[in-house]
Amino acid sequence: MSKKKILVTGGLGFIGSHTSVELIKEGFEVVIIDDLSNSQLFILDNIEKVSGVKPAFYKIDMKDNDKLLDFFNTENNIDAVIHFAASKAVGESMDLPLKYFRNNIFSLVNLLDTMELHKIKNIVFSSSATVYGDPDELPATENTALKPALSAYGSTKQMGEDILQKVAATGKIDAIALRYFNPVGADSSALLGELPIGTPNNLMPFVTQVAAGIREKLTVFGNDYDTPDGTCVRDYIHVTDLAEAHVKSCERLLDNKVENNYEVFNIGTGIGISVLEIIEAFEKYNHIKLNYTIGDRRPGDAPSIYADVSLAANVLGWKAALRLKEMVISAWEWQKKIPDLT
Ligand code: WQD
Repeated sequence: MSKKKILVTGGLGFIGSHTSVELIKEGFEVVIIDDLSNSQLFILDNIEKVSGVKPAFYKIDMKDNDKLLDFFNTENNIDAVIHFAASKAVGESMDLPLKYFRNNIFSLVNLLDTMELHKIKNIVFSSSATVYGDPDELPATENTALKPALSAYGSTKQMGEDILQKVAATGKIDAIALRYFNPVGADSSALLGELPIGTPNNLMPFVTQVAAGIREKLTVFGNDYDTPDGTCVRDYIHVTDLAEAHVKSCERLLDNKVENNYEVFNIGTGIGISVLEIIEAFEKYNHIKLNYTIGDRRPGDAPSIYADVSLAANVLGWKAALRLKEMVISAWEWQKKIPDLT
């Protein structure tokens, strides 16, 4: 039997590249679209180094509907799409909301239009725990009420889910939306990882850049929250585990198991970890002292958010296997390799 072919949009990005590797390892054929706006071409070679296969690659901006149509005419036997391609900087999205609506919404609508034209039924959507905002209950389950989005980025994830749900209700597509909590870490080969442009917004790449001497010190955003040690609590998830959740989702779609054409899953470990615990683990497992200071709260940060992950375990058959130790070690191994790769 020929291999099932999966289109990975944004396949050279942080989560997309790890997912491409896991798909190849599981015996899928991978085709990648990426516009290289927040990724680099050497990642394609590194996907080959890690997986033994170099996926077909198309540099396409998915806002360009004609290019997308051409692509689907060339690669005309796609079995499922995993849609990562999107802008993801929360802060930037407040300054440039239209960029986010254009990049994240136009692309999704173009993709769904083209999929319909080519009768491609299956899609996995890259959603985010950001859709919960500051949730009323913890752990957040898939039924926890969504709050009005605090950023344009968050709006695009809520809208994306809404668009998929409504299109799925027509029966033309089957969709799975995965709500990622806080993805961190890197492939154990240290050949793939996160490549932030400029000053990182997220905690883990900031931590690794401080350890590498690229940044002088880390500021912990607030230690007076109503949490066990006063710093914010998040549900950090290793990117390799997250990649595997996408493989499971693809398999579920291809087996025609999705109920009522649309399903949503939280993807986290279910364990809340504070900023100070991240720092402590990073220092302990990597034998490095981190220069840090306590600063003001960052506007918009929820004190605490972590997932109820039982639905993914029961329905998708997926559970995170990697813990904080593997997250901080792999993130640091990757950071040390970046200068040789870029
Ligand atoms: C984690 C914790 C900060 C930097 C965001 C998006 C979410 C998803 C992941 C996807 C918070 C603290 C951070 C620093 C710090 N995005 N922190 N000093 O805000 O939970 O989630 O990224 O693409 O949608 O909202 O992640 O990594 O920015 O912060 O103290 O220099 O670390 O206050 O408590 P966040 P984060």
